[in-house]
Amino acid sequence: MAHYAKINATHLSELVEIVGQGNVFTDSEVLIDNSHDYTEDLRFLPEVVVKPRTAEEISSILKLCNRENIAATPRGAGTGLSGGALPVHGGIVVSMERFNSILNIDERNLQALVEPGVINQVFQEAVNEKGLFYPPDPASKGSCFLGGNLAECAGGPKAVKYGVTKDYVLNTEVVLPTGEIIWTGANVLKNSTGYNLTQLLIGSEGTLGIITKIVFRLIPLPTENLLMLVPFRDAGKACEAVSAIFRAGLTPSALEFMERDCIEFVMKHTEVKIPLPAGIQAHLLIEVDGMDKEVLFKDCEKISSILEQYDCEEVLFAESSQQKAELWRARRSAGEAVKSHSIYKEEDTVVPRAELSKLLSGVKMIGKKYGFRSVCYGHAGDGNLHVNIIKEDMTDEDWNTKVPQGIREIFELCVSLGGTISGEHGIGYVQKPYLNIAFNESQLNLMRGIKKLFDPNGILNPGKIFSDSYAE
Ligand code: LAC
Ligand code: ZN
Repeated sequence: MAHYAKINATHLSELVEIVGQGNVFTDSEVLIDNSHDYTEDLRFLPEVVVKPRTAEEISSILKLCNRENIAATPRGAGTGLSGGALPVHGGIVVSMERFNSILNIDERNLQALVEPGVINQVFQEAVNEKGLFYPPDPASKGSCFLGGNLAECAGGPKAVKYGVTKDYVLNTEVVLPTGEIIWTGANVLKNSTGYNLTQLLIGSEGTLGIITKIVFRLIPLPTENLLMLVPFRDAGKACEAVSAIFRAGLTPSALEFMERDCIEFVMKHTEVKIPLPAGIQAHLLIEVDGMDKEVLFKDCEKISSILEQYDCEEVLFAESSQQKAELWRARRSAGEAVKSHSIYKEEDTVVPRAELSKLLSGVKMIGKKYGFRSVCYGHAGDGNLHVNIIKEDMTDEDWNTKVPQGIREIFELCVSLGGTISGEHGIGYVQKPYLNIAFNESQLNLMRGIKKLFDPNGILNPGKIFSDSYAE
């Protein structure tokens, strides 16, 4: 275990000098607010929360941390699902909430320069007003920050057609753990110049640097979309239908899967009503988008005829934008709905798309073996299935011993199917015991070496990704 220095009065007065009196917080309300994210019911109290406004201020904070051996944990909106923003060693939380400006939307180049504390949806709406589109849309888009989206390489429903966060980032300004401020790339669509530091930073979960500016590429905004909800009696067949749609040359702009239990929890948690006749095991939520409605209707006809081959029940077309919004609200609230029902653990499994039905049936078999119930939903078109393991009336002992064994087996299944252990939520704090399922020692050593090169004293977001960090 690494031992970090406790925050003392001298540290606090230095922090006040750096960011100003009004931006250093030690009162219990702020500390408690910054002690958790959306991951399970985990809580770790920081000793102080600071809210800097410039890269230079962050640089001074991290230099102080190096000099005094203090742990620093960067934090966006705290919507993460793997515990990346939890201050597991106490110390300083570096809140990015004051980095909240959209600095420039460059309509000539279809690019935007943005600060990391801007909310995903706020940015989406700002570019939409100019006829432009920033597709990555995690379920928490109404509150999550773009900086956190980069830290975890967030996805969301639209990833299946448009790609994930990394596919839209051209360049970033980063404060390195040692305090230097660098740009990682260039504001260009092609770049074969040296190692790709931009992509190394994306998905590094706040362990390699604190991002202070982001240059995104944008695309033209599709003007039309159609949405259909498709019930299946057999969840395995629903999964098989997913890959058949792509094999037929169609690329929906969303292709989501929801098990029956997931819809039941959502209906209990929200006032959304979804027809759920007896015997229906799962639904697919399928969206197509583009510029020409006629083309989209034809795509939907083709998709429907494929779905029929997999024994779907009657397809429901969303008739109004209000109905579309309702269905999306239902899908986006799945995580919250499960969480409101029971303590749960969220696994972010991902396999090659055509292996999805094997993954789903394997998860259910493993659940039976270890005695837990799982609620599954997610981005079926990406082979990305969120497996929510719910505690309900399991004993604490079973929850703490059998469930981790079951999770290990689920992840081993993912890897044996050609997949891996997180598609879009990251490793963070909660998945680090399982990283050695996805990577061998050579691979892990390479990653540990990168961490050490960036952060020789292990002060930035310690206790994340590696269970055996050199710094602990
Ligand atoms: C979702 C989050 C959990 O897809 O990633 O709802
Ligand atoms: Zn998701």
